[in-house]
Amino acid sequence: MMARGPGKPAARQLKTRVKTARRRSSSSTRWLQRQLNDPYVARARKEGYKSRAAFKLIELNQKYKLLKPGMRVVDLGCAPGGWLQVAVHLTGSSPGDPRIVGMDYLETEPVPGAIILQKDFTSDDAPEALITALKGKKADLVLSDMAAPTTGHKATDHIRIMALVEMAADFAMDVLERDGTFVAKVFQGGTEAGLLARLKTEFTRTFHAKPPASRKDSAETYLIARGLRDRVTDPGTHA
Ligand SMILES: C[S@@+](CC[C@H](N)C(=O)[O-])C[C@H]1O[C@@H](n2cnc3c(N)ncnc32)[C@H](O)[C@@H]1O
Repeated sequence: MMARGPGKPAARQLKTRVKTARRRSSSSTRWLQRQLNDPYVARARKEGYKSRAAFKLIELNQKYKLLKPGMRVVDLGCAPGGWLQVAVHLTGSSPGDPRIVGMDYLETEPVPGAIILQKDFTSDDAPEALITALKGKKADLVLSDMAAPTTGHKATDHIRIMALVEMAADFAMDVLERDGTFVAKVFQGGTEAGLLARLKTEFTRTFHAKPPASRKDSAETYLIARGLRDRVTDPGTHA
């Protein structure tokens, strides 16, 4: 049975639900139809993944061998936890020695073998919280599947998306081991030339990849930067 909001009579609730359903009709019906007919949604349910997004990481990993046993991984924008499940499984991270750290401002149900921090990645103390969770050690892989909520205003959305990717890239370059990898969701035509140029100088190989699980009609794609070059590190930062 559906939980009722505090103090709201049942008849009123039902009316509101029907009204909302009517108002959202075409786009939400399309969404529902797509969900119901999406083979990845069915597979996720069948195989016990918390999201269909899990298959994007599985497919990227099949092609580019991103995840290996023993790796330390940071997963930015981890809710509801599909990528965490994949990362835990493929690295062999365990509750006794967790090497996967995820962050999201939304709540993420626990994933055994992963440390989950509920925090906005853009907040000042987010990088430090992640580094503390990594126990001061560097990561081998930084993943970002973050997407800022869209406003509908193209230019604003573009700036917000780019700001998130740039922050994730800066963070990755600080916490990655030499030779480490950074993977981030970006939107086609949206990766700023400046960021790409910078990544190309910091990493040995930078390219875009769109896994089959990423919907064809979506502009999302993944930016992969591999082989972080040696950097001169500030002696004041973590080891
Ligand atoms: C597409 S979902 C990630 C799905 C996830 N990879 C999975 O497999 O379950 C994107 C997530 O990014 C999170 N996100 C967006 N901006 C964020 C921010 N500034 N800080 C933390 N999380 C953020 C959202 O809350 C959302 O849960």
